[in-house]
Amino acid sequence: MNWDDDSTDAAAGDEARIVGASAEGDDQAVEAALRPKDLSEFVGQEKVRQQLDLVLKAARQRGATADHVLLSGAPGLGKTTLSMIIAAEMNAPIRITSGPAIQHAGDLAAILSSLQEGEILFLDEIHRMSRPAEEMLYMAMEDFRVDVIVGKGPGATAIPLELPPFTLVGATTRAGLLPPPLRDRFGFTGHMEFYDPAELQRVIHRSAGLLDVEIDPAGAAEIAGRSRGTPRIANRLLRRVRDYAQVRADGVITREIAEAALSVYEVDGRGLDRLDRAVLEALLKLFGGGPVGLSTLAVAVGEERETVEEVAEPFLVREGLLARTPRGRVATPAAWAHLGLVPPQAAGPEGTGSGAGKGQQGLFGA
Ligand SMILES: Nc1ncnc2c1ncn2[C@@H]1O[C@H](COP(=O)(O)OP(=O)(O)OP(=O)(O)O)[C@@H](O)[C@H]1O
Ligand SMILES: [Mg+2]
Repeated sequence: MNWDDDSTDAAAGDEARIVGASAEGDDQAVEAALRPKDLSEFVGQEKVRQQLDLVLKAARQRGATADHVLLSGAPGLGKTTLSMIIAAEMNAPIRITSGPAIQHAGDLAAILSSLQEGEILFLDEIHRMSRPAEEMLYMAMEDFRVDVIVGKGPGATAIPLELPPFTLVGATTRAGLLPPPLRDRFGFTGHMEFYDPAELQRVIHRSAGLLDVEIDPAGAAEIAGRSRGTPRIANRLLRRVRDYAQVRADGVITREIAEAALSVYEVDGRGLDRLDRAVLEALLKLFGGGPVGLSTLAVAVGEERETVEEVAEPFLVREGLLARTPRGRVATPAAWAHLGLVPPQAAGPEGTGSGAGKGQQGLFGA
């Protein structure tokens, strides 16, 4: 199975981060064990869960296959989990593949033509499928038919092939990249949201039970608050805290143990890791809170532009610690407070920020 291996370019720098949202290393094996198996076990996402429950129940009552489902949302929020739940709820077999694995229309034709009636076809990272495959998928989704092209050049002929009714479940972290004709062919689109701390706490308690780890509510709350709204991160932090509890304490996870363990891993009270804090610290200490250009900021922390922009910034922006403005990156008052620093007086940072937004590219290159 390769559907979880291909991280997007943006996620590449996310690897090996304890607060990275993409799955890597031992995550994949453990995740299989921690995955909720049916809708009732699936924590949070009330809206999507209710909507999906209706879609599936109605299809079951009609004895029909369910409409095609698109699941969109950030990495680690439960798209793959939900697709497997759909198969379980429909009592149907599931075939798993991914956009990047389908490079030629022929690859897709081979998969489609071997589907059984009612089967769930899970297409992860559907936004990364090739163009010709995408076009074949349009027809398959709408008419349950594909044209298989035999031969090449002027002698090529299209042989129509009937497909059994199936349910396509597409998952994407970048719904905006899907061509509208593809998006329109889904009968139901579920947008996965980040989880609130109470929901993550439930995820953590559930996982702790499955992992046979003792944890008290304060311990779970502490981990939840540092998990960036993402169950995958919550489960990963839980495992690291468990290690600590086992080696340095009596195995029980309390607030103190969680705090101590996560400070070893440099995940702070808000879920920021070393890179996030380095970016914030440079912005505050070197550039007086900005505005400062991305390239300058990246050089200051010794990282690639892309790493700062795609790995560190999204969460900082989401947390309201950093703003991207036309003149450059700016720290918010919350950023100063989070690092325990005092912002300079209203007069503003003299000189440091001026020109950084525009001038830097011309002066120093990109
Ligand atoms: N609602 C939930 N309740 C409990 N556990 C969850 C929930 N959502 C996700 N998880 C846990 O988080 C892990 C990651 O979820 P999943 O693999 O489904 O994310 P994803 O959205 O497919 O991520 P990606 O975009 O990287 O493919 C799962 O192994 C599961 O244990
Ligand atoms: Mg997935």
